[in-house]
Amino acid sequence: MTDHLTVVTHPLVQHKLTIMRDKNTPTAVFRQLLREISQLLAYEVTRGLAMTTKQIETPMQPMDAPTLAGKKLALISILRAGNGLLDGVLELIPSARVGFVGLYRDEETLEPVEYYFKVPEAMEDRLVIAVDPMLATGNSSVAAIDKLKEAGATNIRFLCLLATPEGIERMRQAHPDVPIVTASVDECLDENGYIVPGLGDAGDRMFGTK
Ligand code: URA
Repeated sequence: MTDHLTVVTHPLVQHKLTIMRDKNTPTAVFRQLLREISQLLAYEVTRGLAMTTKQIETPMQPMDAPTLAGKKLALISILRAGNGLLDGVLELIPSARVGFVGLYRDEETLEPVEYYFKVPEAMEDRLVIAVDPMLATGNSSVAAIDKLKEAGATNIRFLCLLATPEGIERMRQAHPDVPIVTASVDECLDENGYIVPGLGDAGDRMFGTK
């Protein structure tokens, strides 16, 4: 993957995203759509994975058939909203290893504070896909990726549902080597650090909290 930013404009992604943005969409529907959309985004973020071949026998004859190369990839959920994307991606890549970075946003400074970090071993040998639905200020994403690099990761991609121009720029400055895949680049951030037009608080929408 060479582009720093990929916006997935596929009609199914955009249609599902519109229903998710609607404030009248109930939690159960939001969650189901997030699961579906995350699989479509996972398809895009895994484009160009390293491949090799292996010898198999079809019912007709032996064949050198394509298969994924290298160590199992690592999916890293940036808690808590990342878990909503994680479930769908894992359905598509069930053998992936999974890690968690726990960050919360200080409501006053909007700066990320870490409270949990657990990732698979041999991060340096894996493709690492960090997932967080909302790339807003970019502060938590940048901090999470800092931590993943400290843990040895060198090949990282970032998957989100919505991004802002500010968040993308912040990521591009801090981590130009990390491609971003998103379903939309929204207009801006509001004064509280929420994405506009956005979809509200992704964690609250998917877990039914307030
Ligand atoms: N996190 C969210 O859940 N929503 C936003 O709009 C911004 C950050």
